[in-house]
Amino acid sequence: MSKVLEINNVSKIYGTGENSVKALDNVSFSIEKGEFVLIVGSSGSGKSTLLNMIGLLDRPTNGSVFIDGIDTTHLSDNKISSFRNRKLGFIFQFSNLLSDLTVLENVLLPREIAGTNDSSEKNAMELLKAVGLHDQINKRANKISGGQAQRAAIARGLINNPSVVLADEPTGNLDSATSDKIVQLMKSMAKKLNQTFIVVTHDREHFGNVDRVITIKDGKAFEGNLPSEIEVLT
Ligand SMILES: Nc1ncnc2c1ncn2[C@@H]1O[C@H](COP(=O)(O)OP(=O)(O)OP(=O)(O)O)[C@@H](O)[C@H]1O
Ligand SMILES: [Mg+2]
Repeated sequence: MSKVLEINNVSKIYGTGENSVKALDNVSFSIEKGEFVLIVGSSGSGKSTLLNMIGLLDRPTNGSVFIDGIDTTHLSDNKISSFRNRKLGFIFQFSNLLSDLTVLENVLLPREIAGTNDSSEKNAMELLKAVGLHDQINKRANKISGGQAQRAAIARGLINNPSVVLADEPTGNLDSATSDKIVQLMKSMAKKLNQTFIVVTHDREHFGNVDRVITIKDGKAFEGNLPSEIEVLT
């Protein structure tokens, strides 16, 4: 097993003085390649803040984030952007597809940003087939259903063969039956590709068995999802 992610003593404080909010309080944990991890916790507990730190979308106030053994703390903003595009895949609550582009073009976007065009189209077609969209590739993104859009977003999240795929409430905008299908798809892609997933969700029950659950409470991270099982992660 190899570590793909290591979070060391990460704290995040928004604002200053009286108005400051400590959204993350000295969080540390590491994740191995291929693990399917859920991050759960009540609204406002700090889940999205944590995902934004892992996703290098924002910087911690204190602490460090290592991805594939590389300390991202001192990377410049430019370096962080290209590093993020290469190493991380993102799936959001709303699929965030560009509506004027086709499904295939949307999936290829992270490849274009990375400047790699080699076998991209072949890879994209394979992924679109794997997510069940082989007959939708040339449709514009605004002409497909919410569930199909989320399937395309999963393919887009995987196209750069990232070290970690991060998903923030990927089923938050879907009905229950479609959510189940999207969850099963993410889990099967994770297994098939030995792909690490970190998923923030309010939908714990939809996910069934996963490798690991991390609960966030008042900005602190705990291992497990039941109060009796949890163990402080420091
Ligand atoms: N940009 C910001 N500026 C100031 N405070 C923020 C900012 N983003 C989040 N917060 C605060 O940090 C805390 C954690 O917020 P966060 O969005 O991480 O929670 P969450 O667990 O994702 O909640 P939800 O389940 O509702 O999405 C909250 O108190 C929130 O109000
Ligand atoms: Mg959130």
